[in-house]
Amino acid sequence: MELRIDGRAALITGGSKGLGLAIARAFAQAGGAVAIVARNAAQLAEAEAAIRAAAPAAKVAAIAADISTAEGCEAAYAGAVQALGQVDILVNNAGTSQRGPFLEVTDALWQNDLDLKLFAAIRLARLAWPGMQARRWGRIVNVLNTGAKAPPAEGAPTAVTRAAGMALTKVQANEGAKHGILVNALLVGLIDSDQHRRRHAASKTNESYEEWLGKLGASLPMGRYGKAEEFAATALFLCSEGGGYIAGTAINVDGGRSPVV
Ligand SMILES: NC(=O)c1ccc[n+]([C@@H]2O[C@H](COP(=O)([O-])OP(=O)(O)OC[C@H]3O[C@@H](n4cnc5c(N)ncnc54)[C@H](OP(=O)(O)O)[C@@H]3O)[C@@H](O)[C@H]2O)c1
Repeated sequence: MELRIDGRAALITGGSKGLGLAIARAFAQAGGAVAIVARNAAQLAEAEAAIRAAAPAAKVAAIAADISTAEGCEAAYAGAVQALGQVDILVNNAGTSQRGPFLEVTDALWQNDLDLKLFAAIRLARLAWPGMQARRWGRIVNVLNTGAKAPPAEGAPTAVTRAAGMALTKVQANEGAKHGILVNALLVGLIDSDQHRRRHAASKTNESYEEWLGKLGASLPMGRYGKAEEFAATALFLCSEGGGYIAGTAINVDGGRSPVV
């Protein structure tokens, strides 16, 4: 079965790198129009060009905005509507991994994590929802991590924010289903992305990136890290008609890493 989203317009936060870029590329190749959002304009322009090269017929827009603020979310949504006409699919993907010993997590870190990863998802869904409801078709994918179901020691603030994101997904799914708005979460384990490339560079190891990430992946049940394309394929499935009977789930995309289903 070929997964298609022809005629759908998608807003993808964090679409300039890593998983978000892979999702935007997959959506564009599947017939969708895509608006990618991130802060760094130069990286957005590179990503826009890469998506156009992979899907020359697709409508692609790049919007520079910081979605950790209400104004940034409004600018991101307005930019997407201006470029694409509407938003049928919202992928709340932008995020960072902030974690440490509980006593070292300051109020500022908590707030920053909640603003970027929880409030952005709330605000953007609030903006996109009325149009989806009027058209009786919408998809929202909240990208979380496996800590949402299994919060580890030193997992704050991210695991707490992600657990809230899972609850948000269920609340929205329960309200949206009758309007044709299907809301689901994807829980990331260890997937190749720019985030890990930055960590590899910061580690100052002599190992190549592939060796370094390969060792981390070797401990997982599947014995390897995931590819961004594999993650994007799951997001595409949820947003295609093939995912038309799925609402309120939180799917681990983690090679079996999560200790809970
Ligand atoms: N890859 C993994 O193994 C993994 C594991 C667990 C969870 N995740 C989650 O999966 C999502 C994607 O991760 P990734 O690995 O692809 O990360 P990444 O390679 O670091 O990409 C993050 C993206 O988010 C954007 N972004 C960050 N802060 C933003 C802000 N304030 N406003 C707008 N855009 C912002 C970045 O662009 P700018 O910096 O230019 O803004 C970039 O496009 C994140 O939510 C992450 O926490 C990933």
